[in-house]
Amino acid sequence: MSSILITGGLGFIGTSCAEFFLKKKFNVTIIDNNRRSVPSNLKNKKLKILNYDIRNEVFIKKINKKFDIVLHLAAINGTKNFYKYPFEVLDVSTKGIINIIKLCEKLKINKLLIASSSEVYSTPSKIPTTEKERILIPDIMNPRFSYSGGKIISELYGIHSMNKKIKNIIIFRPHNVYGPNMGGDHVIPEIINKILTSIKNKNYKITIQGNGLQKRSFIFIDDFLNALYLVIKKGNNEIINIGTNDLITIKKLIKNILKHFPNFKFKITFDNKNPIGGTLIRNPDIKKIKKYGFQKKISIDEGVNKTILWYKKNYR
Ligand SMILES: NC(=O)c1ccc[n+]([C@@H]2O[C@H](COP(=O)([O-])OP(=O)(O)OC[C@H]3O[C@@H](n4cnc5c(N)ncnc54)[C@H](O)[C@@H]3O)[C@@H](O)[C@H]2O)c1
Repeated sequence: MSSILITGGLGFIGTSCAEFFLKKKFNVTIIDNNRRSVPSNLKNKKLKILNYDIRNEVFIKKINKKFDIVLHLAAINGTKNFYKYPFEVLDVSTKGIINIIKLCEKLKINKLLIASSSEVYSTPSKIPTTEKERILIPDIMNPRFSYSGGKIISELYGIHSMNKKIKNIIIFRPHNVYGPNMGGDHVIPEIINKILTSIKNKNYKITIQGNGLQKRSFIFIDDFLNALYLVIKKGNNEIINIGTNDLITIKKLIKNILKHFPNFKFKITFDNKNPIGGTLIRNPDIKKIKKYGFQKKISIDEGVNKTILWYKKNYR
């Protein structure tokens, strides 16, 4: 029987991972302090939820059971939070990675996966962006970079623990994962919620932050899970991008989302205030993950449709 420990397991990706591994008959243990968890009906006799703050090393003493895999996801995600709570963002990343490595060493864990982010590339020098791209913090005074700073520190700890007490450490860099139940802090749910609110208020006016010209490539959660599973099975002491190459501007994305509300006519305004430190284009080179057999199955239209259906049903 295989077992996995998921930190941040009550968040968007964590909940989906827990469901995915429970379906594969894994024993799943979650550490999460509910800082930004999403609603879920996670219940299973093979599931254990531990309410620890990853920053507090008490949990290292308390956990004595060995796991086959440790998946470290705990972080404070969501761009607004980087500007609002930079200290906490950095604190969770840095203390979190130190404590999780200590736990893995104590338990003699063979496989540790560390969630990094496409944000570490800041504004990449090459598109599509390979894992060899330089990573950087362009402005140390900008609170936005608390997040990528924390991820870079996590990567460094991961890299310099490789081939030591933990046999296999894999750092993965997700690029814009989306899907149902992802909270309200990311671009796709933010747009959908604004549309639903404007319908509720009957004013049909929507203001979008920025100028809509940024380009992103999104990956639907089911495709992300399949990619992550390939990385877990085949990855070996490495850094790997997880994403797709389907570039889309935010303007086009909004158009696609609006197609799902054909009975309404909306007035869309862009406030032209792009967040300082944001980047125009993000598109990963995914040759490595493709070599492991990854193929995207869900188109942006299909994924957006599934996401809208969930947000319509759960809108309050
Ligand atoms: N969603 C994406 O598109 C994306 C992109 C790049 C990187 N990532 C990374 O993937 C991971 C998962 O992302 P997500 O979208 O599920 O984020 P999320 O915010 O939905 O989940 C993070 C979870 O961590 C928990 N957490 C926060 N602080 C904690 C602490 N001190 N102790 C214990 N738990 C704590 C939160 O309660 C939450 O449940 C994160 O590391 C994130 O940085 C996600």
